[in-house]
Amino acid sequence: MGKNLVQKILNAHLLEGELIAGQEIAIRIDQTLTQDATGTMAYLQFEAMGVPRVKTELSISYVDHNTLQSGFENADDHRFLQSVASKHGIYFSRPGNGICHQVHLERFGVPGKTLLGSDSHTPTGGGIGMIAIGAGGLDVAVAMGGGPFYLTCPKVVGVNLTGKLSPWVSAKDVILEVLRRMTVKGGVGKIVEYCGPGVASLSVPERATITNMGAELGATTSVFPSDAVTREFLTAQDRADVWVELGPDADATYDEVINIDLSALEPAVACPHMPDAIKTVREVGPIAVQQVLIGSCTNSSYADLMKVAAMVKGKTVHPSVSFGIAPGSRQVFEMLARNGALADLIAAGARILESACGPCIGMGQSPSSGAVSVRTFNRNFEGRSGTKDAQVYLASPEVAAATALTGVLTDPRDLGAPIEIAMPEKFLIDDRLVLAPSDNPEDVEVLRGPNIQPLPINTALPGSLTAEVILHVGDNITTDHIMPAGAKILPLRSNIPAISQHVFAGVDATFPDRAKKAGCGVIVGGQNYGQGSSREHAALAPMYLGIKAVITRSFARIHRANLINFGILPLTFASDADAAKVKQGDVLTFADLGDQLGQAETLTVKNETTGETFTVRPDLTERQVAIIKAGGLLNFTKQNAQ
Ligand code: F3S
Repeated sequence: MGKNLVQKILNAHLLEGELIAGQEIAIRIDQTLTQDATGTMAYLQFEAMGVPRVKTELSISYVDHNTLQSGFENADDHRFLQSVASKHGIYFSRPGNGICHQVHLERFGVPGKTLLGSDSHTPTGGGIGMIAIGAGGLDVAVAMGGGPFYLTCPKVVGVNLTGKLSPWVSAKDVILEVLRRMTVKGGVGKIVEYCGPGVASLSVPERATITNMGAELGATTSVFPSDAVTREFLTAQDRADVWVELGPDADATYDEVINIDLSALEPAVACPHMPDAIKTVREVGPIAVQQVLIGSCTNSSYADLMKVAAMVKGKTVHPSVSFGIAPGSRQVFEMLARNGALADLIAAGARILESACGPCIGMGQSPSSGAVSVRTFNRNFEGRSGTKDAQVYLASPEVAAATALTGVLTDPRDLGAPIEIAMPEKFLIDDRLVLAPSDNPEDVEVLRGPNIQPLPINTALPGSLTAEVILHVGDNITTDHIMPAGAKILPLRSNIPAISQHVFAGVDATFPDRAKKAGCGVIVGGQNYGQGSSREHAALAPMYLGIKAVITRSFARIHRANLINFGILPLTFASDADAAKVKQGDVLTFADLGDQLGQAETLTVKNETTGETFTVRPDLTERQVAIIKAGGLLNFTKQNAQ
């Protein structure tokens, strides 16, 4: 029977298990990436493992998230990252070089390889035919040390593309359509493989927009074939030598198939506050807009920004709109500067931001109170912009630019004739901001400023546990809710005692103090708990505060893996009736954990406050049970190394 592309790449990297959906498999990781917001922890964890040099084919440390330097903290982190990378064989992409995913796609990604990144939008690499997966920093640290990456073998969804995008309709509208159909939970336990005759009509950056925002489906990753379009892109990046042709067999099968006719799509937006709240721009209508932001790892390729520049050339941004642009990479930024497009943007009234994540992670450009902000980004969770009551719509660069000119949400088809962008045969190649690791690592001193605090390590799980429900929350809690980011909190990411004071800050500010006082606690959540970013601080900081278990209706994949990695027990309620038996403040007893965990399919928990019992499911593999009993992956790895 023919194989799909996912099966081919996973097979070539399979170390343990069989490719049967739902079973745990281990794969070899060829490349890793980290960004600064998760990287400091990943490298502290790598150091704790005691491996002198990375064992991957390529590992890169990017600095793109926290580039605002209003105190010493971020600068300390950047210096630590640069020195630790040099010592341990890791390339270092300096601040200013661009957003990790875009730079990686342009300069380092290789079709057919596996990439593990400590950032949830690592699947961007699927745009050139990589199996690129987002994970917690500790998983990335283990991969850098040569260890396998364990995952639940996903189902493969084939998205069969036919037709061709109409003028003014873009790749963003494709992924918004997939989100509309599959929802933010629809990709859990799945890899999305794009196939069909429509694939050839999409450029690599367009494909990368689609695989990037596949993260919002909850999917393990998304992937496109590596074809003549991929070869053309890599040739323009002076990297034709890494191209290989890759695609599904003609008789490949998929667990599920979705058909999308590209020619039937229209400009769309994701409405506040979820990436799957999709409507067409015409359905939403001409609402007044106060801010337009273009950039992020989703939509700031050369073609994206050239289109925007052409649309605003000779015009002026609407007086009620603040219009910001953050180019995704220094390559694109410099090309725009040299060909005059940057001047067109500046002349039209755009505020040019650094080539970094910036406002996407709440680092600057928070909208005014209650404002409507149209962004080309990938997430519009409540409060992520830094303004709690802002209304964020996610859109294509074309919709965003049209809106910046008119001051109301605008379908770009209303503006006139479409714009054609001539793509350069060669991109501007200059990797001087990527520093190679030292050839003499023994001479490199790792520089630790006061913001780099030691890594807290969990203790082994007790044989039985009695703990209070410190917090009870509803559905769709994101990692932004659990561990908020933004200009005030993000600089504390290398200092767990300090950052843990902000856990659940926007949900219940008393949580950190109550958890610490209790000394040992449980969190209860609803569906899709922990969706959003890969930030392991959303597990690490609650662990530091004494959280031992999280019970929900369902978990997002990366967050659940992070909980396990830090020795926190992830449990799901067996039924709605069981979930209804727990309230905040109740005291729960988990008896005989030592014996039952790993043996029984379900556990019985006693609610000491009400006297009732209820049932939960651990759904843990043998390896995961051992990790949790050891108090986390780091303890487990050390124990196994002895
Ligand atoms: Fe950065 Fe936003 Fe992407 S924080 S990595 S631009 S999702």
